[in-house]
Amino acid sequence: MATMKAYEIGAANGLDTYRLVTRPVPVAGPGEVLVRMRAASLNFRDILLASGQYPFPADVTHLSPLSDGAGEVVSVGEGTTYFAPGDRVAGIFSQSWQGGAQVADAWSTALGGGIDGVLQEYRVFHQNGLVRLPDHLSFEEGATLPCAAVTAWNALYGLKPLQAGQTVLVLGTGGVSIFGLQLAHAAGARVVATSSSNEKLEKAKALGADEVINYKVHPDWATEVRRLTGGRGVDHVIEIGGTGTLAQSIGSVNIGGIVSMVGLLAVADAPSMNPMPILTSGAVVRGVLVGSRELFENMNRAIAHHRIKPVIDTVYPFEQATKALQALAEQRHVGKIVIKIGD
Ligand SMILES: NC(=O)c1ccc[n+]([C@@H]2O[C@H](COP(=O)([O-])OP(=O)(O)OC[C@H]3O[C@@H](n4cnc5c(N)ncnc54)[C@H](OP(=O)(O)O)[C@@H]3O)[C@@H](O)[C@H]2O)c1
Repeated sequence: MATMKAYEIGAANGLDTYRLVTRPVPVAGPGEVLVRMRAASLNFRDILLASGQYPFPADVTHLSPLSDGAGEVVSVGEGTTYFAPGDRVAGIFSQSWQGGAQVADAWSTALGGGIDGVLQEYRVFHQNGLVRLPDHLSFEEGATLPCAAVTAWNALYGLKPLQAGQTVLVLGTGGVSIFGLQLAHAAGARVVATSSSNEKLEKAKALGADEVINYKVHPDWATEVRRLTGGRGVDHVIEIGGTGTLAQSIGSVNIGGIVSMVGLLAVADAPSMNPMPILTSGAVVRGVLVGSRELFENMNRAIAHHRIKPVIDTVYPFEQATKALQALAEQRHVGKIVIKIGD
């Protein structure tokens, strides 16, 4: 029996919980696809899952971690029609969510949380659980797309599509926010980006941010957003902070603007929020859970058309997966941290 290397999560109690194990190479059954994984990327979610802090039910013990991976098709099972050996593919975040509104089992079918993830040399997917990579992207670049990029795309296009000339606010320079910046810039929108670091803000400018705000220097950054937008505010906020940033995000939107609730990087100790500004601004505050295969495919067409290159901060070898996870937690990165799998 052929074997392969895979990472599994031991007890979900910290950032050194990844264990390298040997597993049998799986075989593609009917409707399935065997993928040789070539790269994976990390998300803040992987820190929460490894350390037992994920705010949703998930028993990840002995699961392979990480939702985001890309590779090449090695073989297909009987009746598999969408893919053939040699195709370059990425897994979709929620394996069950094909299109339309969010499905009820989107959490329980999510890679690397509800079900086995992608940090392994081979993985079998149902053919509905994969998309083709844009041709201009490497496996490392393609591996950054399934969670962070699709989330940013859903925030900008999932409810009320972004229009050229509108303004988008992205918070910080992590994976979701940098994709938000790139996608909004490519669409002809004006982008306001925040960061804790002037050096990172220079990188954001080089990627197309029109206005930048250091949120350490301007703790009342909503006032800066309003000043920089002539008092109008922004049309979209990709809200990655949660209770620690939400009030200011709502304070940053134009009348009828959309605040996409994505993350919880800035959870306040004693959250309190006056809901009146939602009412007075007419803002739409919506939850986003990554997105469907349909959204992923729509996004890939835009990425291919604009030849957008994902921003990769660092690529770690497979043997250094734990180091990669710890580097993500240090928050010195801009964009994505990637793990190379195989040669
Ligand atoms: N709902 C969903 O479907 C979904 C999908 C993907 C991600 N998420 C969530 O979205 C968040 C971002 O995920 P990610 O993978 O992009 O994270 P990430 O790459 O780890 O982002 C880290 C960066 O966030 C920025 N940040 C931290 N605290 C901040 C604050 N108070 N205000 C503004 N920026 C702050 C920092 O950027 P600077 O150093 O530049 O300040 C930091 O480097 C996480 O909470 C994650 O769980 C949710």
